[in-house]
Amino acid sequence: MKHPGEDQQVSSPAGFDTPLAREISDLTRRRQALASERLPQPEKTRVLTVSNQKGGVGKTTTAVNLAAALARQGARVLVIDLDPQGNASTALGVEHRAETRSVYDVIINDMPLADVVQKSPEFGALFCVPATIHLAGAEIELVSLVAREQRLRRALDLHVREMTDPYHYVFIDCPPSLGLLTINAFVAAREVLIPIQCEYYALEGLSQLLKNIELIEKHLNPDLAVSTILLTMYDSRTNLANQVAQDVRDHFPDQVLDTLIPRSVRVSEAPSYGQSVISYDLNSAGSLSYLEAAAEIARRGAPETGAQQ
Ligand SMILES: Nc1ncnc2c1ncn2[C@@H]1O[C@H](COP(=O)(O)OP(=O)(O)OP(=O)(O)O)[C@@H](O)[C@H]1O
Ligand SMILES: [Mg+2]
Repeated sequence: MKHPGEDQQVSSPAGFDTPLAREISDLTRRRQALASERLPQPEKTRVLTVSNQKGGVGKTTTAVNLAAALARQGARVLVIDLDPQGNASTALGVEHRAETRSVYDVIINDMPLADVVQKSPEFGALFCVPATIHLAGAEIELVSLVAREQRLRRALDLHVREMTDPYHYVFIDCPPSLGLLTINAFVAAREVLIPIQCEYYALEGLSQLLKNIELIEKHLNPDLAVSTILLTMYDSRTNLANQVAQDVRDHFPDQVLDTLIPRSVRVSEAPSYGQSVISYDLNSAGSLSYLEAAAEIARRGAPETGAQQ
């Protein structure tokens, strides 16, 4: 991706033009560009499902860090952890022991969403609906329930309608599968955000995911659209990563964000401190990239198709 002033020759104060000096200068310029911009807030709540049935591609990392990035810039944001692994709950530092009221109670026991929402300790307006280990059985329990695909949608619609100041954004973190939990997420959302890891098998399985989204759109949620694709764990030193990034851009020119998320140790360390990378190390390259990706999402706004709730 090109950043403002990227083509200029950059020198360190001592007059050395080194890769490190260039990198530091580039990070500074990007930080300043972000700081000087006020992001537009959506008029209606944007609900984005972060999904890819491939495991470990950066779904949770993306949901949590985009949410934190938007909350830091003044938005009210909710993350719904819909994965029994509970990784998003961990990363946002919210309680999710077995006895904690969670998304399981909402989907299976009809508990109002407002009763399970927790405030993340990170930012004033960042909230999380935690997932506990009980969710592992929900795929099976859902099968026999009435309106089994619509349960999250109903709970979320009701919750948002009852709020005086509704969320600007809701991110739903999906498990790596295409089961009933993920279907609930697709029905509750208007937008799908697909993180794609820049590696060899990146595009494998993507057509299956897109076919499923098409089916949901046809039968259960006509407003659903793949609005955003984000390239994750990018390593610019490898030809393969560049090749994959180019392939994805060729296939999905309108959906892929300009911002690439670099592979970064700081990003992978943050969850073990119960933090997003935005609070863990605001000045890191990973943090900056998630702030830039969030800014792009805010600037682009909701897709034209699909009436927002
Ligand atoms: N940009 C990055 N740089 C370095 N490590 C990363 C980055 N993004 C994610 N990771 C690490 O890669 C692993 C997988 O990421 P993550 O948990 O976000 O993927 P996921 O798609 O949610 O996985 P799952 O399918 O199990 O839910 C984690 O250990 C995470 O810390
Ligand atoms: Mg995950």
